[in-house]
Amino acid sequence: MAAKCTIQACSLPYPSPPHHKYDVFLSFSGVDTRRKFTSHLLAALERNGFRTFRDDKWLDRGEDIESGLLKAIEDSKISLVVFSKNYLTSSWCLIELEKIMECKKKLQHIVLPIFYEVEPLDLRVQKGSIIGALVSHKGIDSKMQNWTAALTEASYLSGWVKTNMGERDEADLIENIVIEVTNKLSLVHPNVVDYPVGIMSRLRKLTTLLHLESSDNIHIVVIWGIGGIGKTTIARAAYNSFHCQFEGSSFVAEVRENSKQTNGLFLLQKQILSDILNNGNCNIGNSHEGIELIKNRAFCGRKVLLVLDDVDHIQQLKTLAIDPKFFHRGSRIIITTRNISSLNSLRSVAELYTLEQLDKYESLHLFSWHAFKDHRPIEKYMDLSNEVVEYAKGIPLTLEVLGCFLFGKTKSEWRSAMEKVKKIPHEDVIGKLKISFDSLNKEEKDLFLDIACFFAGMSENFAIQVLQACNFFPEIGIRCLADRCLLKFELGFELGYESQFRHLIVMHDPFRDMGREIVRQESFNYPGKRSRLWDHEDALQVLRYDEVRSISINFSFAFDVLFNWCYR
Ligand SMILES: Nc1ncnc2c1ncn2[C@@H]1O[C@H](COP(=O)(O)OP(=O)(O)OP(=O)(O)O)[C@@H](O)[C@H]1O
Ligand SMILES: [Mg+2]
Repeated sequence: MAAKCTIQACSLPYPSPPHHKYDVFLSFSGVDTRRKFTSHLLAALERNGFRTFRDDKWLDRGEDIESGLLKAIEDSKISLVVFSKNYLTSSWCLIELEKIMECKKKLQHIVLPIFYEVEPLDLRVQKGSIIGALVSHKGIDSKMQNWTAALTEASYLSGWVKTNMGERDEADLIENIVIEVTNKLSLVHPNVVDYPVGIMSRLRKLTTLLHLESSDNIHIVVIWGIGGIGKTTIARAAYNSFHCQFEGSSFVAEVRENSKQTNGLFLLQKQILSDILNNGNCNIGNSHEGIELIKNRAFCGRKVLLVLDDVDHIQQLKTLAIDPKFFHRGSRIIITTRNISSLNSLRSVAELYTLEQLDKYESLHLFSWHAFKDHRPIEKYMDLSNEVVEYAKGIPLTLEVLGCFLFGKTKSEWRSAMEKVKKIPHEDVIGKLKISFDSLNKEEKDLFLDIACFFAGMSENFAIQVLQACNFFPEIGIRCLADRCLLKFELGFELGYESQFRHLIVMHDPFRDMGREIVRQESFNYPGKRSRLWDHEDALQVLRYDEVRSISINFSFAFDVLFNWCYR
């Protein structure tokens, strides 16, 4: 097909179902291994808590066996294929294998072969007894080509070769397989977004740059990309996947935003100390003490994984004692930034990972989950969906927000929304997101702006309490904003309250910045004429000269403000 093929014209890849039903699908020849090797393997997988598909246990009675088996493969994260002498004599096995290799291509399904008393090379060139086995399927020539192709491809995959070994060796082999499955699944399970698309391939790239296999050096990776492209998501996925392999770890969120707050970086120092030392109470008096403690106690003698999300100035790293010479061998540091030039001085010691946009397939896939709650668009919306995808330019945040915005809307509403979006320049992500804000009613807009200015990153309960006092119906309003993907909830520590997990309100930076910009535009030069103030400098100015509706004052700063105000 010509290079210009559209998504509609190409066949759409399968979706990765966001929630797999099984961890492992076992494909094997019943005659050869059901009673011995495969039953031991199955028992070991189940003992380790993996949901493993078994045709005798999981297939529903009366269900069409072939479609049940094929569906089970799609619903599994990993396939373990036990190639044995009679595997190829069974057309069931070959049908499974064809499907497994197809899912590998289209669903990022992981395939691990076990060559059980057969040689990969024999499968590859299809010779010896293997060719005899294939020949036994005479009469189904139409399928033969696909089967042999699947077989050849599978024979090149890295897996295990079991020769005629003793029982102990077989037990070791099973143990190795379980370890590998555990490792692979921890990568598949980063558990960061509801509808993950392309996370695995990005995570693999990041893993290569992190050189996790080596414990001799310290590796720093800087993830760079524009707002909304998925930096935090991939950094979080890596953190969730690998933090168990380290002796201490900390995910430090929103460094840029915190550095603007009085004592913000000091609080982040406390977070690092309490995460890594596993100690809720870190008594440090000031940020100099913080630096000393971090380098001498947290990083010293301990292999740590540290993620610093959204850094935009080298000084922020200095204040957090991030210098390779303070770290123990085997430690890894991941930094995300929108602004790579601010981290120029790291170039000689860090690897750069430039995050690319999602491709057309991935984009349509992600958009469909949000706009249709399904992996592909409803047929009659296909053209319109392609148009949206074209305009989102592979930015996950834009795809997510436009998808939520268009969910449940009629075709004519889609068209009018698209007319507006098309007028906005491609590079203007915020402009595209504003369409969602514009569609809110007056109360919802107010609530959105309040959250953008004051409550992003804070506990949901706290925000609700304060907003209730202002006669809003915040619970309903907050849910409504979440339904439109304008904010979301995360379980985490609120900054300054590291001892307790809370439900936090998370607003993406582009939204928060957009909300604050809208308020700033109410009066660019006179903060007192704006409806909300969140910057302490502006607050001070207004307390001196103006009237204002609401002001954000954090505790450490309150004294400062009140002092200045009383003595104005
Ligand atoms: N691979 C992905 N699959 C599905 N959703 C994704 C993916 N990457 C990002 N997203 C979604 O896109 C949104 C933006 O992602 P994220 O916050 O990671 O971007 P970012 O690059 O960190 O942006 P910023 O520079 O503003 O911090 C999130 O809501 C996230 O859920
Ligand atoms: Mg981010």
